[in-house]
Amino acid sequence: MRTQVAIIGAGPAGLLLGQLLHKAGIDAVILERHTGEYVLGRIRAGILEQVTMDLLDEAGVGERMHAHGLVHGGIEMLFGGQRHRVDMNRLTGGKNVMVYGQTELTHDLMNARQMEGLATVYEALDVQVHDFDSARPRVTYRHGGKQEQIECDFIAGCDGFHGVCRASAPRAAIAEYEKVYPFGWLGLLSDTPPVNDELIYVNSPRGFALCSMRSRTRSRYYLQVPLTAHVEDWSDEAFWQELKLRLDDEARERLVTGPSLEKSIAPLRSFVTEPLRFGRMFLAGDAGHIVPPTGAKGLNLAASDVKYLSAAFIEHYREHSDAGLDDYSARCLGRIWRAERFSWWFTSLMHRFPDDGAIVAKFQQAELEYLMHSESGLRTIAENYVGLPLDFGR
Ligand code: APR
Ligand code: PHB
Repeated sequence: MRTQVAIIGAGPAGLLLGQLLHKAGIDAVILERHTGEYVLGRIRAGILEQVTMDLLDEAGVGERMHAHGLVHGGIEMLFGGQRHRVDMNRLTGGKNVMVYGQTELTHDLMNARQMEGLATVYEALDVQVHDFDSARPRVTYRHGGKQEQIECDFIAGCDGFHGVCRASAPRAAIAEYEKVYPFGWLGLLSDTPPVNDELIYVNSPRGFALCSMRSRTRSRYYLQVPLTAHVEDWSDEAFWQELKLRLDDEARERLVTGPSLEKSIAPLRSFVTEPLRFGRMFLAGDAGHIVPPTGAKGLNLAASDVKYLSAAFIEHYREHSDAGLDDYSARCLGRIWRAERFSWWFTSLMHRFPDDGAIVAKFQQAELEYLMHSESGLRTIAENYVGLPLDFGR
């Protein structure tokens, strides 16, 4: 088989790239290790920045998002028993975020791909990337018991943190930066109305908590838990009880509990690979970087990588210019480091770290109070949360 761009991974990054390339008349094949159902079964954050919404519209898959997504113009911060609102819409001159689950978004992208009859090979096993340092890269894999090969112009590594693309880059050409946090997030999804109209980020003496949602009838809550915690040890009842202890009186009273649809523990990590290009192979999304979920930047960063990468491929094929491809890594990394910095800072501000003494809790409290009473402080949170402009600093 021959194609222009071989995309490895059918998560949001790979699917969105496939859709944008298709719109531009560029041929691509997507290879995915798992089944479509497995990909849809993963529960991840669901806060979209304006840049991400625009890109989904550009890809022609924004209809359900506009119909069912919830527009949020602010977030609430709870600390010292008090809630404070960050009016993001006012502070950023009218910007909002959209609450729309990654599962729904992935579903929309998969549907669009299927409707257009585009090639996705699910259950592609033992995917290997070859010769990306030459003009004729190849990808080999096994499917249905047969060994297959794709010849291509470019390889797009959209295969997530545990993918094969980054792992195949020459070690001498790659630098990796990593911080692993000493706690995880225990998440619970339930068909109960959200406790609040907007998200509540909680810094409590018992640890961080987050009240989020997927719709007006489906809630998503998180609790900071030690790295030693096991999900089997957390009954639904224990989860709700602990969440209540981290909330304020009003939220405690309003909280509607119910059986969990899903419950899991996710570790928190900051990770960046430099560069994101190795000859004719490009990394995008979680394959190149991971942020801790505080601030919900993961999906949005994947989307902005894909925006830059699709534009660069289009420029290559239409205008015979490689300027965009040559600039891809540097351009993405600027935005990535800004989001990494924000996610690390917001995580540090909101969590209890096991080695920190009482004084750090006091520092956090003072910082949060300062931020909530300073117009500049509020704006710093707001402009980062809604997403900095694509051309920031350029
Ligand atoms: N061969 C084929 N497919 C692979 C391989 C491989 N060797 N390794 C991984 N994959 C697939 C995974 O099964 C997965 O479906 O690549 C896909 C990567 O998808 P994601 O992990 O969702 O990553 P990405 O598309 O970059 O999405 C980024 O999703 O994980 C969240 O926080 C992240 O919200 C962000 C967004
Ligand atoms: C979620 O709804 O899953 C979510 C929302 C905001 C975050 C992280 C996760 O910062």
